Amino acid sequence: MSTPLIGVSKSILKIKELINHVANTCLNVLITGETGVGKEVVAQSLYAESPRAANNFVKINCAALPETLLESELYGYEKGAFTGAHKKRPGKFLTAHKGVLFLDEIGDMPLTLQSKMLHVLQSGEFSPLGSDEDFKTDVWVIAATNRNLEESINNKTFREDLFYRLNIIKIDIPPLRKRPEDIPALIEYYFRMYRSEYPNSDGGKPDPETLERLCAYHWPGNVRQLQNCIKKQMVLNSWDKIFEELPQDPSLISEQDTDSPGGEQADTLFHNDVNPERMKIISEFVDLSTSSEKLFEDISLKKIKKLASDKVEKEVITFVLEKVGWNRSRAAKILKVSYKTLLYKMSEFSVSPPVK
Ligand SMILES: Nc1ncnc2c1ncn2[C@@H]1O[C@H](COP(=O)(O)OP(=O)(O)OP(=O)(O)O)[C@@H](O)[C@H]1O
Ligand SMILES: [Mg+2]
Repeated sequence: MSTPLIGVSKSILKIKELINHVANTCLNVLITGETGVGKEVVAQSLYAESPRAANNFVKINCAALPETLLESELYGYEKGAFTGAHKKRPGKFLTAHKGVLFLDEIGDMPLTLQSKMLHVLQSGEFSPLGSDEDFKTDVWVIAATNRNLEESINNKTFREDLFYRLNIIKIDIPPLRKRPEDIPALIEYYFRMYRSEYPNSDGGKPDPETLERLCAYHWPGNVRQLQNCIKKQMVLNSWDKIFEELPQDPSLISEQDTDSPGGEQADTLFHNDVNPERMKIISEFVDLSTSSEKLFEDISLKKIKKLASDKVEKEVITFVLEKVGWNRSRAAKILKVSYKTLLYKMSEFSVSPPVK
């Protein structure tokens, strides 16, 4: 089941109204807004309210695929259309027939594919790669982007004619900081959701003062970030800890704050990061339990590079040796190093066969 569009702010109520009006028309919709504001939630709501809900909702992320793959994913291909096309495959346009095609991150679609897309939207026809046959398609196209497409048009990275085709109905979702009145309702919704996911958690809801702080925060990652905080609260049960880890609003950090190394600002400087993947990588080489002030005291970029490359080398060597039953000359050949180098590295990284 898709997520309901939660919110009581004027802008969300207006969007809900618009969804009701547009859902029956199947006019192309362009949804814009910062990351995490709910563009996909709105696209799903349009689909769920429409007569097309009985058919497919097909999503494609135009930023995630290289150009040629994006083209074949969209339009499909015939057997032998290109190297590796071992059998015929239908594209998203066909799978979405009579349903919805959600073009996510449309602002990242390469220019060459934009002209083809425009043609398909105008004619309702397309042909898979390697095919002479034209297919008629009936899809409702909903597109989304967090880019400013008007700017992209000026920079000549987005076609103006395609923009007008997609932008028949525009739904712009304001960032969460501009509609703090939605925050209590979102908190309520996600608390209920995570309570059933973590039935043993004693993560408590915010008291009035904490709620006020949450409503005053600027939420750079929007609803997604708020949602993650509630999930964290289920595990940590400490709003103070959660606030400690929230990134500061850069516009609120005065020059004096940034220059003073001893202050609270400096102490959390390197610990405020919304990108958990990055923090995970860094934590492998830097001890994040050290205070921000001293975090990089004993380590340089050069040292981190050496540690990272050693770590990867060790894993690759062990992996290959395991696969070839610890036959060192075979492993050396596969890794394209001399036998002597391999032995040296094995001893440097203490790689040895398991004791039987
Ligand atoms: N109004 C809302 N009600 C309930 N959940 C919401 C709302 N807005 C966003 N969310 C939740 O926040 C998360 C991010 O939403 P979504 O993926 O729709 O954002 P997005 O704008 O598409 O983000 P991105 O630009 O990063 O793709 C999802 O888990 C979604 O369920
Ligand atoms: Mg999205």
